[in-house]
Amino acid sequence: MAKAKRQMQEDIKLIDVVVELVDARIPFSSKNPDIDGIAKGKSRVILLNKADMADPAVTALWKARYEKDGFFTALVNSRSGNGVKTVEEIILKACAEKIERDLKRGIKNRPVRAMIVGIPNVGKSTFINSLAGKAIAKTGNKPGVTKGKQWIRLNKNVELLDTPGILWPKFESVECGKRLSWIGSINDDILVPEEMATDLLNYITANYPDMIRGKYDVAESLPDDGPGALLARIAEKRGCLKKGGVPDYTRAANLVLDDFRSVRIGRISLERPEEA
Ligand code: G4P
Repeated sequence: MAKAKRQMQEDIKLIDVVVELVDARIPFSSKNPDIDGIAKGKSRVILLNKADMADPAVTALWKARYEKDGFFTALVNSRSGNGVKTVEEIILKACAEKIERDLKRGIKNRPVRAMIVGIPNVGKSTFINSLAGKAIAKTGNKPGVTKGKQWIRLNKNVELLDTPGILWPKFESVECGKRLSWIGSINDDILVPEEMATDLLNYITANYPDMIRGKYDVAESLPDDGPGALLARIAEKRGCLKKGGVPDYTRAANLVLDDFRSVRIGRISLERPEEA
C-alpha cells in the first residue's frame, strides 16, 4: 500500500487527468481517501462503475453530487460496455484547458495522459479491457514490453497509465466496512456471514422493502418481527435446514449474500450522498 502510494506520487507528475473508478453501489466507501491528496491540482474524472447493479435514482444523485464537487463523471457498466464509449470524450473534456494551453504554445497532437485508479474488485481490469481491448493486445505483442507500469495508447488523443499498485478502500467507519463486505470487497473468510446477511437484510428492508417481499415471499414477516427472524424465515422458505428442521443460518446467509451480489434481489444502492 505504501509502495503503491509512493509509485502514484511519482507517476502523477506525468499525468494530466486522474480517472478514478468507484462502485456505483457505494460511491463514497469505495473511494480511496489518498487519491485526493495525490491528485491535487489535476483534472479529475469519477466513473461510477457497475451502474447496472445500483439503484438508478440514487446513482443520479451521486453523479450530481460529484459534479458539484468539481469532478467530471460518467455511469459505466464495464462488463457490458455500456457507457464506456463516452469515457474518452469525458477525459478530453476534463483536459480542455490543458489542450487549449498546449495549442497556444504551438504543441499539437500531444495525447492527454490519464491515470486509471481504483480499489481492488471495483472493475478496473474489466474497464480497461473494454475501453482499450485492441490497444492492449497490440502493446502486449511487442517484445520487451516491461511489466508493471504500463502505458496504453488508446488512440492519438489519449494514453492511459494503468497503475499496478493496490489501493485499499477507506474504512472510515463501521458502516463503510459493512458496505464493502456486502459487495464482496473484503475477504469473506474473516467475516461472519450470518451477521453480514442480517445487517444487509436490515438495510434492504428499511430502504427497499418491496424487493425483499418479492424475492423471498415473506410479506407477512415485514417489518415487525426483526431481521434475525427474517433470516430464519428465509432459511425455512428456501429449505436451508439442518437435521431436525433447525434453520441453517449460515447457508441462508450465504444465499442472501449471493442473491444480493448477483443482483437477484434487485438494483440496490447502499449509501446516499446526503449521508456522506
Ligand atoms: P479489478 O481489476 O478492479 O480488481 O476488478 P475486475 O475487473 O477483475 O472486476 C471484478 C468483478 O467485477 C468481475 O466479476 C467483473 O466481471 C465484475 N465487473 C466489473 N465491472 C462491472 C460492471 O460494470 N458491472 C457488473 N455487473 N460487473 C462488473 P467476477 O465475477 O469476479 O469475474 P468474471 O466472472 O466476470 O470474470
